[in-house]
Amino acid sequence: MSIRTISTSLVGLCNQSEDFGVMKRIAFVLVAVATVAGVVASIAAVSQHADEAAAAISAGKLPPGYRDWRLISVAREEGELDDIRAVLGNDVAIKAYRAETRPFPEGTIIARLAWRYVASEENNRAFGKTQSFVAGAPKNGVQFMVKDSTKYASTGGWGYSQFDDGKPLTDQAALQNCFDCHQAFKDRDFVFTHYAP
Ligand code: HEC
Repeated sequence: MSIRTISTSLVGLCNQSEDFGVMKRIAFVLVAVATVAGVVASIAAVSQHADEAAAAISAGKLPPGYRDWRLISVAREEGELDDIRAVLGNDVAIKAYRAETRPFPEGTIIARLAWRYVASEENNRAFGKTQSFVAGAPKNGVQFMVKDSTKYASTGGWGYSQFDDGKPLTDQAALQNCFDCHQAFKDRDFVFTHYAP
């Protein structure tokens, strides 16, 4: 039985009694305590997930569940990259994007996934003309930016990483390139992608 149910029953039992006011106050306090506990527990769960994901990335592993993170936006790159990509955020990232919190809070993780940009014959057949392009096989790695201002102080507070076929990129010069290019948006906390409503 939850605290909320207990307190509701208490109010019910004491409805007729002289102590009704007191019981009502007790019930109110119980509900308040339950609510605060719930909020605290959900904040703790969010930050625990963020910590687990950040720890996995820094240990050279893809963070569990990143594929279920929510969508921030999509992009299409031509030229050498020639892919179609999605930018996803963990809960901390999504919340910050929606509230327009900048700089991004500690624990923010932004992921960039990419796939081959391929014509879809089956879609084209349905449309009766050539117009459809979709995501093909994964391409150009999965990239992450992890916000930890202390740990990554030398790279603007963000840790950069890339996984190719699940394996971490260890080439330090390539990883330095991440920060060098993202510097272009220093005034936007080094993040290019806008939230697509
Ligand atoms: C030459 C510039 C350049 C380099 C180098 C670069 N990025 Fe980016 N990055 C971008 C641009 C532009 C975007 C936004 C559009 C897109 O995804 O193509 C982006 C998007 C991202 C995003 C999504 C959040 C955001 O800022 O929009 C992540 C995460 C990311 N990059 C990580 C990395 C990592 C990790 C590396 C190095 C392995 C890296 N990037 C190297 C230019 C760069």
